[in-house]
Amino acid sequence: MGPLASKALNRPSAARVYDYFLGGNHHFQSDREIAEEIRRIAPALPEMMRANRAFVRRAIRFLHSVGIRQFLDLGSGILTVGNVHEIAQRAAPESRVVYVDIDPVAVAHSHGVLAGNSRATALQADIREPEKIFSSPQLQRVLDLSQPVAVLMAGVLPFVPENPVEVVRPYREATVSGSYLLISHVTYEDQPPEILEALRYVHRNAMQLIPRSWAEIAVCFTGYTMVEPGLVPTPLWRPEPAYSNGLHQRAFGHYAGVGFKP
Ligand SMILES: C[S@@+](CC[C@H](N)C(=O)[O-])C[C@H]1O[C@@H](n2cnc3c(N)ncnc32)[C@H](O)[C@@H]1O
Repeated sequence: MGPLASKALNRPSAARVYDYFLGGNHHFQSDREIAEEIRRIAPALPEMMRANRAFVRRAIRFLHSVGIRQFLDLGSGILTVGNVHEIAQRAAPESRVVYVDIDPVAVAHSHGVLAGNSRATALQADIREPEKIFSSPQLQRVLDLSQPVAVLMAGVLPFVPENPVEVVRPYREATVSGSYLLISHVTYEDQPPEILEALRYVHRNAMQLIPRSWAEIAVCFTGYTMVEPGLVPTPLWRPEPAYSNGLHQRAFGHYAGVGFKP
């Protein structure tokens, strides 16, 4: 490993801190330290992250039910259990999934998990480089962009300081009608003080993390028709009793929604 790569691993990464909270084992000392401090400040924060994963799982089942068989998962993180390809391919084996993440550990791990799966792949890229993503031979081998695709942006936009509407736009433009957009996004609205303090702590000490308002997130769905129930706290998006996590409504943390491109 070169000095640059090892320096990057000494800094906490969103993918690995998240993996730590979800019970995975792909994290380093710097990730664990920040994660433990977050847990100390706001014990509910890991639960919020699990609620976000649970939303993604429900949404994939919904997308399968409306006939979606292609998924572009942007900011996919470290694959643990209940990954998009597992849910989608269990429901419909022909489903195709491309995972994209900026974190080299996340992508290397995804390659291992996906070995032998010809309908799923992972590539390392920044979601602000849509041309690089869409022109990648890996993506072109797995996805047929003449057919509908669900673009997933779960928990990734808070790590991007640019205007999220502009980040989303090229993905809307590159996908055909009948495609979908999924977003979950951390918010500062209606959150208890300890959650806000934990978010500020992360932003100051570890990585850029920008919570946004309902209105700032809703406008990202410009050009899409919102699927019921619209942009709502994650636990309220089509809850299924079997997957309910009893999350306290006041600490929902993320708004979540799915839009349909007419
Ligand atoms: C909170 S995790 C969300 C993981 C997963 N999507 C989920 O919702 O369970 C955010 C992920 O976004 C990735 N990420 C952050 N900025 C990114 C960027 N500019 N391009 C691609 N991925 C990015 C991080 O490496 C991390 O894996």
